[in-house]
Amino acid sequence: MSEKIISKFFDIEDSHTIEIYEKHGGYETIRKVLKQWTPEQIIEEVSNANLRGLGGAGFPAGRKWSFIPKDSPKPKYLVINADESEPGTFKDRYVIDHYTHGLFEGIMIASYAIGAHKAFIYIRGEYIRQTERLVEQIEAAYEKGYLGKGIFGSKFDLDLIVHRGAGAYICGEETALLESLEGKKGWPRMKPPFPAIEGAFHSPTIVNNVETLAYVPTIIKNGADSFANLGSERNGGLRLYSISGHVKNPGVYELPMGIPLREIIYEHAGGLENGNGIKAVIPGGSSSPILTPNEIDVNMDFDSLAAIGSMLGSAGIIVMDDSTCMVRALYVVTRFYHHESCGQCTPCREGTGWAEKVLKRILDGAGRPEDVDNLVEIADNIIGNTICPLGDAAALPIQSYVKKFREEFEYHVREGKCDVKGQ
Ligand SMILES: Cc1cc2nc3c(=O)[nH]c(=O)nc-3n(C[C@H](O)[C@H](O)[C@H](O)COP(=O)(O)O)c2cc1C
Ligand code: SF4
Repeated sequence: MSEKIISKFFDIEDSHTIEIYEKHGGYETIRKVLKQWTPEQIIEEVSNANLRGLGGAGFPAGRKWSFIPKDSPKPKYLVINADESEPGTFKDRYVIDHYTHGLFEGIMIASYAIGAHKAFIYIRGEYIRQTERLVEQIEAAYEKGYLGKGIFGSKFDLDLIVHRGAGAYICGEETALLESLEGKKGWPRMKPPFPAIEGAFHSPTIVNNVETLAYVPTIIKNGADSFANLGSERNGGLRLYSISGHVKNPGVYELPMGIPLREIIYEHAGGLENGNGIKAVIPGGSSSPILTPNEIDVNMDFDSLAAIGSMLGSAGIIVMDDSTCMVRALYVVTRFYHHESCGQCTPCREGTGWAEKVLKRILDGAGRPEDVDNLVEIADNIIGNTICPLGDAAALPIQSYVKKFREEFEYHVREGKCDVKGQ
């Protein structure tokens, strides 16, 4: 499949500038939209394109936009989630670096569709160079009249503001992000109300991922069907897969929704280093349940991965070869979630801490016979009992690693050491 939408800009020099973007047809779509399209038509087109939210949850983008109450007297906001903190995920950085104005055009179209005159890009604090790029290119867009009052000579006003996070993973969760945007501690809110009804500053708000919005101009330009047909059923288009771990060519690959995982690993990422075999694969960021080599023929879309008990999530693929100790891998993941738990809910705050301690004890050769079952029980008690999905994100890997590699965990406990070569 040679078709590319976003990544064709990765190799173009200065693709982040207005001049180069316009040379490749950039900003033609928003000009047409502001003259010829109604907001309702845009929402319908994006819905028909089967564009799913690409930040992790996969919620259909057009449907989410349709939840904004039209009769509300309050201002509406669009918030762009550029927090990108899910381990294994590094695609939004490429969009910001190379498709800067494509992202802005998507933001403009989405803002027009939901009636927002202010949009905020919430970017992770560590993305310093990307923040500078955004600020510099937003200024360039204001200078040309592409942002601000009456954009492109229309009656539509739009301000775009960059807000930096301070390095907390939880601020990628949409309601924690909104709290942080409002200047408060990044603690997730209870839902409902969902942000579309009461989001930023108590007003209707749409939160969308960077990559989701970056596909919007192409959908409107080429039509819903042409985008939908690139992907699989109910999962339209292409998406950016980040792949890392023990592969020869780690990186970001733009490929169809629904492409088999095996093809991404062996044909695009060049297979494994040193001819090693696969031991396990994380398909969609560290919170997605792990897959064994027998499961890598799965199609990479939200529905196919859900059907085998995992998640497409942020499409951050991590490949582990047969020199990987699964106890250590789970320990690293669990330590991360414990560190990043915001501490509001007891099952998440305490459960992640206990799981980390039990795993450390097993790794140190001091595991107790009941420890493997203890881990599963801790995870079972977290799932479904927390305010936000971080609890589940921590518990799902515990359940799946233990279920699929139980013998390895038991060996560690029984023998007090690891039997994997190279450890
Ligand atoms: C703990 C946690 C971390 C998250 N981190 C991110 C993130 O870094 N970037 C992102 O776009 N979505 C993240 N999400 C998902 C957001 O809550 C939200 O679903 C998403 O931004 C909506 O945009 P989309 O519909 O375009 O995917 C996270 C969710 C959770 C529970
Ligand atoms: S699940 Fe964890 S991160 Fe989410 S609100 Fe509860 S304590 Fe905080």
